[in-house]
Amino acid sequence: MFENKTILTGVKPTGTPHLGNYVGAIRPAIRLGHEALAHGGRHYMFIADYHAINAEKDPEVLNQKIKEIACIYLAGGLDPSKSVFYRQSDIPEIHEITTILYAYTPKGLMNKSHAYKASVDKNREAGKPDDDGINMGLYTYPTLMAADILTFNTDIVPVGRDQVQHVEIARDIAGAFNAHYQKELLKLPTYYLEENVAVVPGIDGRKMSKSYGNVIPVFADDSVIKKAVFSVKTDSRPMEEPKNPDEILVYEIYKSVAAPEKAKEMADGLSQGKLGYGHIKNMLLDAILSEIKDAREKYNYYMAHYNEVEEMLAAGAAKARPTAQETLKRLKDTVFGR
Ligand code: TRP
Repeated sequence: MFENKTILTGVKPTGTPHLGNYVGAIRPAIRLGHEALAHGGRHYMFIADYHAINAEKDPEVLNQKIKEIACIYLAGGLDPSKSVFYRQSDIPEIHEITTILYAYTPKGLMNKSHAYKASVDKNREAGKPDDDGINMGLYTYPTLMAADILTFNTDIVPVGRDQVQHVEIARDIAGAFNAHYQKELLKLPTYYLEENVAVVPGIDGRKMSKSYGNVIPVFADDSVIKKAVFSVKTDSRPMEEPKNPDEILVYEIYKSVAAPEKAKEMADGLSQGKLGYGHIKNMLLDAILSEIKDAREKYNYYMAHYNEVEEMLAAGAAKARPTAQETLKRLKDTVFGR
């Protein structure tokens, strides 16, 4: 499905990813990019730093988050000589394109955006005015995202469920623009929702999420990872009691990192009463550590040699900009009748 297609992924620099982000989002995104490249397609991967300033106002914190996310994608196997890897803020054309798109974006479309509506709902729950603390960056977020996508003539945007609506909005805006000029000036993007990516539970059994404080970190020292793994919730049943593996949280997490035959070993051991909680936690720890070993080394290397990453990002922006300039020219010529 990726033959000769342009695949584009944007990531917000939201802080150090945990195991759930890594196996459920980051690695699958890199894998899809590789697949597109292997089939003659193009892969754009960028850090959505302008999206991030809506929420993160501390430059030092933001800078650190951008560094971390750049190093994590490189550590996870993104190859910047093949994928176009850049920072959104290095492509100024995106903002001129955003401004043009505003004129074709119904305000009602922004009112309906999940991200905005969620903030309004939160305000209502707290008894605050609807728009309390909501800035225009958040409100118009989907239009900037549409520009991110449309600038590069993107065919496919791999997304998590929460971003589907945003890609549909990009498609609607492109459609409205094209319809007005009766010409295919903007490529209509589609989203790709990977259905079988792992949703990793956290150490308390809820979805792994920083806001729940139940994460297993990946880019941390062994001792930190070990502490999290040994805090995964268990009960007090003795080892000998046969257990249904699907009810054992350690096993649920293990499945997302271990090879299927290894996972089966654990399942069998649990159902036959041959593996205790101490054992399976050690198995989980080993699986995580071996899974992330190379990536963590690379991550530490890039964090310590960030100037190399800066160079890669600058080269990526240089590769990306000619396409952005072409798109901008096409749109400007159209709207100004040049
Ligand atoms: N909104 C996306 C997120 O929160 C990040 C993003 C910004 C993006 N621009 C994009 C994703 C363009 C895909 C395409 O995760």
